Amino acid sequence: MNCKKDFPIFKNNPDLIFLDSAASSQKPQKVIDTISHFSETNYSNIHRGLYSLSLQSTEQYEKSRNIISHFFGVEPQNCIFTKNGTEASNIFASGFSELFLEKGDEIIIPVSEHHANILPWMHFSRKKGVKIIFIHPDEKGVFSFHQFENALTTNTKLIAFAHVSNVTGQIFPVKNIVQLAKKNNIYTVLDACQSAPHLPFNFTELGVDAAFITGHKLGAGGTGCLFLSEKFREVLPPYLFGGDMVDDVTEDDFSLLPQPSYLESGTPAIENVIGFGAAIEYIENIGGMKKIEAHEKKLLDYAFHQLKQKLPNWKIVGPKNPDERSGNISLYHEKIHHSDIAVLLGEKNIAVRTGFHCANPLHHFLKIKGTVRMSFWVYTDEKDIDAFVNALSEIEKLFC
Ligand SMILES: Cc1ncc(COP(=O)(O)O)c(C=O)c1O
Repeated sequence: MNCKKDFPIFKNNPDLIFLDSAASSQKPQKVIDTISHFSETNYSNIHRGLYSLSLQSTEQYEKSRNIISHFFGVEPQNCIFTKNGTEASNIFASGFSELFLEKGDEIIIPVSEHHANILPWMHFSRKKGVKIIFIHPDEKGVFSFHQFENALTTNTKLIAFAHVSNVTGQIFPVKNIVQLAKKNNIYTVLDACQSAPHLPFNFTELGVDAAFITGHKLGAGGTGCLFLSEKFREVLPPYLFGGDMVDDVTEDDFSLLPQPSYLESGTPAIENVIGFGAAIEYIENIGGMKKIEAHEKKLLDYAFHQLKQKLPNWKIVGPKNPDERSGNISLYHEKIHHSDIAVLLGEKNIAVRTGFHCANPLHHFLKIKGTVRMSFWVYTDEKDIDAFVNALSEIEKLFC
């Protein structure tokens, strides 16, 4: 894959080594051009005006919904636009908790989850007297399917888990977990924020009840999606109340528009949603998710080899086998603080994320004071990995 040329950030920052796509990806020229063209020629509010600009704007917004839902294997009515993954998670947690959670219920969550898939559940569980059962990995940070099985009780109502961990890169066995859940009448919600940019992801095939993704990791800012299974159609209560969600309002009552509208109250980030559609078209144009997965697999193999050869004193968190991982690698050195590493890498224009990656509970459980995470996307190449590995090697010499 030779995609760097499609991303103007690299033309404008020729020395940049960008290994922070797990935090947010760069934007291809196609997305930038689409947003700018739309803003210059078509922008107006959607769903309301009957003048041609508004009709065109609505058409393009809904076209993006069709592109995105087709790409991720979900019905367009079940694809709810949000401003990011966190909002999508909160919409689901709020509605699910209102409808289904009762005192004494339990929710299973791997301790490695991003805060976006922990805090909403903590918040709503406390209100309802529901218990969160965290499941824990082995000392390397690796989970097995049996840990999910063992955590199940007759009180389990929901399993909330990520497809890919944003710290360990581990790919979770979604289909097995869904099968286990269905057999026991348990709901599932999947955080797909770190899988959607890296692996072929088909919502319907995976069979979860709900999932959420975030656009900015796929090359488009300011958007996310909540995907709902058919059994949730028109079931979740609204999360925000106001314009663009109601059919009629009287002094006494209001009636809702059908899904997805009633879950998308207020003016959305119209140009960003249109940019998100363009981002998916860009991904299709460069060969689709299978090609991206293969590209990143090569990078993972290469990175593991380099780390083993050149940084034997650094500890990698998560599976040792690159086949069990996707997109990111977090590591640490017991004698070097991650903030020092961040500053020194920053001086070399190497962009990585250091610290806890919004996954504090995992770091606390593993008793790690912070990790350095390199993460990939379509524009990453072996030279980026070399620069990172060589820089860490120099830093180690400086401190040890
Ligand atoms: C695994 C995972 N879940 C959820 C999120 C939250 O996404 P957002 O920041 O777009 O709300 C992130 C973002 O870092 C993530 O990595």
